[in-house]
Amino acid sequence: MDRIRIIGGKPLKGTVPISGAKNAALPLMCASLLVDEPLELTNVPDLVDIRTLGLLLEQHGVSVDRSAVGRMVLNGKGVHNTTAPYDLVRKMRASILVLGPLVARHGKAKVSLPGGCAIGARPVDLHIKGLQALGAEITLSDGYVHAEAPKGGLRGAKFTFPQVSVGATENLLLAASLAQGETQLINAAREPEIGNLAECLNAMGARITGIGSDCLTIQGVERLHSATHRIISDRIEAGTYAVAAAISGGCLTLTGLPDGILDSFFDHLIAAGVTVEQNPAAQSVTVTAGELHGVDVVTKPFPGFATDLQAQFMALMCLSQGASMITEAVFENRFMHVPELMRMGANISIQGGSALVRGVDDLTGAPVMATDLRASSSLVLAGLAAEGETVVSRVYHLDRGYEFIVEKLRNVGAMVERVA
Ligand code: EPZ
Repeated sequence: MDRIRIIGGKPLKGTVPISGAKNAALPLMCASLLVDEPLELTNVPDLVDIRTLGLLLEQHGVSVDRSAVGRMVLNGKGVHNTTAPYDLVRKMRASILVLGPLVARHGKAKVSLPGGCAIGARPVDLHIKGLQALGAEITLSDGYVHAEAPKGGLRGAKFTFPQVSVGATENLLLAASLAQGETQLINAAREPEIGNLAECLNAMGARITGIGSDCLTIQGVERLHSATHRIISDRIEAGTYAVAAAISGGCLTLTGLPDGILDSFFDHLIAAGVTVEQNPAAQSVTVTAGELHGVDVVTKPFPGFATDLQAQFMALMCLSQGASMITEAVFENRFMHVPELMRMGANISIQGGSALVRGVDDLTGAPVMATDLRASSSLVLAGLAAEGETVVSRVYHLDRGYEFIVEKLRNVGAMVERVA
């Protein structure tokens, strides 16, 4: 298995182009199950998760053409199989997003329950309750969700999410686009990736209003049609490189980043002593390191501080002056990076859902590994600042979500290589 070897201490300088967002691309690919015409996606990142979902969609009967770089054409005309098997779903939880579109367009679906994961139990009860509200009959047996639409198809309904869920909002948005009548999704997630999905569905002929708010209204239509859609930039990747600039004592310009999608994160960086200059006209942000102070963080759904940036911010706080209380309020077990950061010399104590980080003067390189994507990226960031050599194992986590991470870091001066 590959590892990433980093020699720390080099201030990063230059420009990092931000890739298309994994978490926008995945639900958008599932929209192909709603139509029998081509759906063309551009700015598609080349990531393992994207390939895994491509395989799942192919076994449903979607044709997936990735012959041009950054472009993907999916065609759901040949969909014949409504079962999403365990072997593929267990590799990637976002596979549950095929459930809504399959029931909506094909009247039934059998999708493996994804099971728990490293960052928490992550149930899918809200996806199920929401589809039941649209009239789907759902049973759970043999580790699978079996869903069937009523005669005449799903029916629009008012559904209030008891808790904000990105994936459940996406699943219902996809399904409600082809339901009969009006659906209202209240307390819906507001992540920019959801707006991106809604815009694509509208380009395909759906009628969704309230985009960007926590109340989405969908007037169901009988059929959707072909469209071309650009995937938004990956705000989590951008946030990760912003920390890379700050933690390495450097200055990076991140390009291709729309305004307003990282405001809460940037506010926290600024409070920590980092300079963030946004240039909305050029869709770029320049992040310059400064003297770091401890800042408290509580993760929240958008527009709050993203849980997907908690581990990276913690790496930064390890080197700040003073203390920082980092509270993870979205997932119950998202501190796997803590023991590894401590092996690099960090001073962190966990108390329930919070981690108290007391800044230290230096981190030292060490062999480390992590059990999820963002935890892995926090270790790479710590390695960029640490004295000596850090070797991050289990690189396959990074391959799921960071396009060309080694190349992008090397281009801005990092001493980093991938070793077999
Ligand atoms: C999405 O996961 C992202 N994944 C995650 O990114 C991200 O961390 C998360 O949203 C929160 O922002 C994709 O977009 C593919 P949720 P999702 O449903 O949709 C609970 C990354 O590193 N919940 O908003 O699965 C759940 O357990 C990843 O790129 C239920 O209880 O997240 C969690 O505590 C990891 N029942 C909270 O809600 C449900 O039916 C939020 O989860 C669904 C969720």
